[in-house]
Amino acid sequence: MDFRLSEEQQLLKQTSREFAEKELKPIAGELDHSAKFPTEIIKKLAELGFMGIPFPEKYGGAGLDYLSYAIVIEEISAVCASTGVIVSAHTSLCCDPIYFAGTEEQKQEFLVPLAKGEKIGCLGLTESSAGSDAANIKTTAILDGNHWLINGSKLFITNGAQADISVITALTDKSKGHRGISCFILEKGASGFRVGKIEDKLGIKASSTTELIFEDCRIPKENLLGQLGDGFKIAMQTLDGGRIGIAAQAVGIARASLEASIKYSKERLQFNQPIANFQAIQWMLSDMATQIDAARLLTLRAASLKDKGERVTQQSAMAKLFASEIATKAAHKAIQIHGGYGYTKDYPIERYYRDARITEIYEGTSEIQRIVIATNLLK
Ligand code: CAA
Repeated sequence: MDFRLSEEQQLLKQTSREFAEKELKPIAGELDHSAKFPTEIIKKLAELGFMGIPFPEKYGGAGLDYLSYAIVIEEISAVCASTGVIVSAHTSLCCDPIYFAGTEEQKQEFLVPLAKGEKIGCLGLTESSAGSDAANIKTTAILDGNHWLINGSKLFITNGAQADISVITALTDKSKGHRGISCFILEKGASGFRVGKIEDKLGIKASSTTELIFEDCRIPKENLLGQLGDGFKIAMQTLDGGRIGIAAQAVGIARASLEASIKYSKERLQFNQPIANFQAIQWMLSDMATQIDAARLLTLRAASLKDKGERVTQQSAMAKLFASEIATKAAHKAIQIHGGYGYTKDYPIERYYRDARITEIYEGTSEIQRIVIATNLLK
């Protein structure tokens, strides 16, 4: 087991860190404040090949792997967690299911422009009655000649407002429960499709979270993704990869919280000395650093096993569970270390605190991750 990154991975880490510091850091606070989607940043990320990192070059990707993808998501999220989730939802939740379940024609038509970053993607799974209970969807798809007729709606969809391409789930046979769910590829501009409510959120404000509405929406028959009735499994397999992205995002937020706390505690003088001299502060920093390392190792292990073609349901659930919970803790401690200043908008700590919170919720709550882990332990 080699815990060092390869030279190529170190270079990628350095490139993505430099990009984040130079391009994102100066505007991250303003993006959060204005809740503005970072269109120009996404274009630049596309130029770097960061919108399709783990996909082969023949499908428009960078020809790298999931480990590289996790490295980049951490670096981006350490500066701007909104941008981190935009890239993660696009890559893991939209590109990946097309990559592993799509036909060659679908990959050429949809994955290539997505992985090149010419188009933005999202996953439409969640509905008002189907959050944690993802199989309880109500959206239906009925075959009508050469088209699927889709009716229903999706909720809390990351990238929903910008997505050119959505992977969605819909019931094709209500009588079969989760085996009656199928996946489809839907393009912006399809008749009967529109974006509904745009959520005003606590954090990750520069990423959009929206409703998707289908009213007799028509999509071509050949836009079925995978086999009829395999939609739930495709969605679950998609989330196995997605949770690695969210774990990496959480590690990024936690690391930013730690780095800011180290810097501040060396500069802030109280009782005639830097507060870093006090063990109360040192213990907080030590705990944060240890937990961040453990979270990163879990995340990179899940990514590495995915790269080896293994099923990573358990490993990605563990990584996402641990990383998201320590991100919230690290941001909490960072505010404590910064005291009153940490509570103001003069420092980015309060943004880390708000951004961290969602990592314990989306792509499966911590409670769902524990169920996934326990199910695997007990089977
Ligand atoms: N990979 C492949 N197949 C899987 C799988 C996986 N990871 N997990 C389950 N399956 C299969 C099972 O083997 C089973 O197959 P059979 O029909 O052959 O038996 C089938 O799927 C049903 O499995 P379960 O009985 O375990 O399903 P369940 O209904 O009990 O649900 C669950 C299990 C873990 C609770 C699941 O519903 C779940 O993960 N819920 C959380 C959903 C979630 O994370 N939502 C977030 C949406 S994305 C998002 O956040 C928005 C965004 O844009 C960021």
